Amino acid sequence: MNDGVIHPVPETWAKEALIDAGTYAEKYRRSVQDPEGFWREEARRLDWLKPFTTVKNTSFDEATFGIRWFEDGTLNLTANCLDRHLAARGDQTAIIWEPDDPATPVRTLTYRQLHEATCRFANLLRAEGVRKGDRVTIYLPMVPEAAVAMLACARIGAIHSIVFAGFSPEALGSRIEDCDSDVVITADEGLRGGKRVPLKANVDAALEHHGKVRRVIMLRHTGADVPMIEGRDLDWATAVASQSTDCPAEEMGAEDPLFILYTSGSTGKPKGVLHTTGGYAVWVGMTHEYTFDYRPHPDSTPQVYWCAADIGWVTGHSYVVYGPLLNGAISVMFEGVPNYPDFSRFWQVVDKHKVEIFYAAPTALRALMREGDDWVKKTSRSTLRLLGSVGEPINPEAWEWYYNVVGDARCPIVDTWWQTETGGHMITPLPGATDLKPGSASKPMFGVQPAILDSEGKELHGACEGALVISDSWPGQMRTVYGDHARFFQTYFSTFPGHYFTGDGCRRDEDGYYWITGRIDDVINVSGHRMGTAEIESALVLHERVAEAAVVGMPHDIKGQGIYAYVTTTSGTEDSDDLRKELIQWVRREIGPIATPDVLQFAPSLPKTRSGKIMRRILRKIAENDTGNLGDTSTLADPGVVDDLLANRPKT
Ligand code: WTA
Repeated sequence: MNDGVIHPVPETWAKEALIDAGTYAEKYRRSVQDPEGFWREEARRLDWLKPFTTVKNTSFDEATFGIRWFEDGTLNLTANCLDRHLAARGDQTAIIWEPDDPATPVRTLTYRQLHEATCRFANLLRAEGVRKGDRVTIYLPMVPEAAVAMLACARIGAIHSIVFAGFSPEALGSRIEDCDSDVVITADEGLRGGKRVPLKANVDAALEHHGKVRRVIMLRHTGADVPMIEGRDLDWATAVASQSTDCPAEEMGAEDPLFILYTSGSTGKPKGVLHTTGGYAVWVGMTHEYTFDYRPHPDSTPQVYWCAADIGWVTGHSYVVYGPLLNGAISVMFEGVPNYPDFSRFWQVVDKHKVEIFYAAPTALRALMREGDDWVKKTSRSTLRLLGSVGEPINPEAWEWYYNVVGDARCPIVDTWWQTETGGHMITPLPGATDLKPGSASKPMFGVQPAILDSEGKELHGACEGALVISDSWPGQMRTVYGDHARFFQTYFSTFPGHYFTGDGCRRDEDGYYWITGRIDDVINVSGHRMGTAEIESALVLHERVAEAAVVGMPHDIKGQGIYAYVTTTSGTEDSDDLRKELIQWVRREIGPIATPDVLQFAPSLPKTRSGKIMRRILRKIAENDTGNLGDTSTLADPGVVDDLLANRPKT
């Protein structure tokens, strides 16, 4: 590993940052020794309507299981993201929108304009009968209205469920159905890298087979001519025109739901991860401030901050919208992709908007790194002070490129480890406090107590490697799987009783630095997007020619992991190249382009134990091309199956 390389905290950062090494140690100690006191103070970053009296009421044990933070306090999140900023910075920019095509005009919204747009849209939702606790599905591209739609839901206490605009009608439909939402917010089309995405048509297709949606509110974005269904569909602009910009904020309990976000697990269909209001807001406000050292410059001008994630993922929720707005930030929202019109796009946007803090996924960096340094070097990037990484392990080579080429060896990198379930950053360097080791997420955030367990559940100490668990609750933790509390406990708290199991493997070195090694369950991470192998298998077996399927991850230079599918076809089927292509397209259509298998191998039979369990370990080895090292195959019902798979491995 790369344990040897250390980039110490730059002197100016150690001097000027909010949190230096000493402050980190002291605050961390306090956060675990006196959580009540620590969180009582941190929660002051919010305006509460009714102050809470209890701070923490949590248990990971089956008999007393429950997670509640600040439970008797009340607040409204949009009052905290918008209203309270109006007096001091109503005319300050809240969102800079950078369109897909650099020739399209930029849009900016001040805090006052964002407040007005949110109130209008919230009033529209109320007029349409949406009430506190109702679920609203959002299927929008990266446009400011996506933030408006989220905030409008939070304003009136409706629970938003955002579905990534790259998901298929089928995936959208099943998510609408699962949370039983009867209102969908969408756009005519999305635009990504010059390509149009037929969002409204996808919604129409989804609703043909799914759910009981009574109202679709559609934003005109590209102006495409799309059919509107009389009595169901509303045009956004027309519908809000008559709404007032005054919308009283609903008083929400700290534990009232804020949003649902579907994410993939190792079994079954995607889970609706549910986050609540108070704890989540404290967590994302705090982590956005400390991890990015986000605060105004000494002359009180705000820093320009850009998180390049899509609002369809948790990173977009916490670090494009809620975290930055809580802190009164200027948040750049980017509609496009890193390679359009060319490979300089990210850095040109940095120069255009004078971005100071830039936060992106390693997969994008690896793709750009491959294109050579000139695309970067021809831009200035002189405003950058801090870089961030999220979503998957960053390999030391990509880290060093990000550091040296993009950041000109001047900007610390915060490699933030966290999950949809954790709401915000869990293990991350703080730029003024943590010496950096390329590839390590480094040290726990305040209040986070990581532990590493062996396969028997015994805690390991010192330098070690095993399963990463978190031993006590933190305010941003998910509260349940929507509609299935038993599944919540089962998924996260039953493997290692008394601990939250992350699904990740992890190594801790002699200095107490954490190195995430990747998922140790049946979840794969493709370009920073989480996919359940079971989901892809279910999509494959829906095809009439597929009898059985097994999907595993494989190493991929750019995506981190690629998708390797083994397919057994029904008897009498000819395993042709055409069928292979058809099946790959099939998965794309069923789930979305992000789930497209990289390799599909026909397998007359799959390696199984005598009790019929597929031995995925062997399938992974074959996919990794690590065939000299298949391990013990003696428990296989038919060891000959492996030879056949090896002989017929497609060229990759
Ligand atoms: C992985 C994304 C290594 C990890 C915020 C986790 C990471 C999963 C990192 C969650 C990182 C995320 N280093 N691995 N800095 N960040 N991961 O729910 O496997 O989309 O369990 O949340 O991504 O993915 P999710």
